[in-house]
Amino acid sequence: MVQPGWKIHRPDGALRVIVTKDLPGARWVEILAAAGCRVEVCTSAAVLSRAEIRAAFGGRCDGAIGQLTEEWGEELFSAFKAAGGRAYSNYAVGFNNVDLAAATRHGIPVGNTPGVLTETTAEMAVALTFAAARRVGESERFLRAGRYTSWLPTLFLGELLRGKTVGIIGAGRIGEAYARMMMEGHKMDLVYYDLRANDALERYAADYGRFLQAHGQRPVTCRRAPQVDDLLRAADVVSIHTVLDVSTRHLINAERLARMKPNAVIVNTSRGPVIDEAALVAHCRAHPEFRAGLDVFENEPRLAPGLAELDNVVIVPHIASATRWTREGMAILAAANVAGLLTGAPAWNRTDVMPFLGAAPPPAAPSVLNAKELGMPLYG
Ligand code: DGY
Repeated sequence: MVQPGWKIHRPDGALRVIVTKDLPGARWVEILAAAGCRVEVCTSAAVLSRAEIRAAFGGRCDGAIGQLTEEWGEELFSAFKAAGGRAYSNYAVGFNNVDLAAATRHGIPVGNTPGVLTETTAEMAVALTFAAARRVGESERFLRAGRYTSWLPTLFLGELLRGKTVGIIGAGRIGEAYARMMMEGHKMDLVYYDLRANDALERYAADYGRFLQAHGQRPVTCRRAPQVDDLLRAADVVSIHTVLDVSTRHLINAERLARMKPNAVIVNTSRGPVIDEAALVAHCRAHPEFRAGLDVFENEPRLAPGLAELDNVVIVPHIASATRWTREGMAILAAANVAGLLTGAPAWNRTDVMPFLGAAPPPAAPSVLNAKELGMPLYG
């Protein structure tokens, strides 16, 4: 029987897959249907509770696609396993909402959706950087309130970023894409903090510096900071691209904010809890020249008291990956993960997932986070 708030694709499918939110595009449904799946999709916009997700498993559930707003831990994975669950995919690249160890204990492979969010998320980080530095939100509110009476030499003075220093915390795919955009587009010097050196990024910056020099321009520089604090002191813009785990929760706290330049910009498109949001509110209140651009929040969807009232903070509702191409790509990867895992395909062993978006996708599950732990065969 179809539950209210759920819709069904391919009702005769032999394998049952639940999807806790409707996803954009049509291709992802085709992928699951072609793998013999009956696909049950929750059409409600409300976040499903663990009890509601357990109820959706029912007596039999082979696969599931879940959301970053849901907590997939021991409770859900043991219930999923009991219902016959064999394949889970997060509809996100981030997986701090998933207890990977619990899934692995139950022998359940967990997929995610990397590679299709890189440029889209980096572009939003750039948008937030300039919106904050050039006071876009604040001046738009001023205008819409009918307060613009005349051009003025001192109206909404902001910060010029060209030639200054951009710092990225986390030099993975998205951090690197953002760094390149700021380096190439705005000739900013780069300082990055990451546990591992990003040699490709350093080589790229050196080559780009030589290119600029050959054209009579100042070369950009790139260096890896030994400590986060070193980066915070040096950078005019700091953009966060790290994962959220115990080592990065409240990485940016009151002490670290105090080390930043008083007129610096901080941007977060990773996960909210990397910044102590109450400390950020206090810092932005005390330093009106300091600016923040935030896509993510510590206790989403709630904002820390005072944050929404601050004119020096630009805030958007976790939409950094929200382009049609990216969100449809994420849906394709999540579906290909679940379809591949349910039909016994190996795990894709490369970082480039673009072949899965083409007409002849490889016979593999594109991104399985615990493939090695589960001893899955690899492909590619
Ligand atoms: C992700 O995929 O982790 C993003 O946060 C979604 O926007």
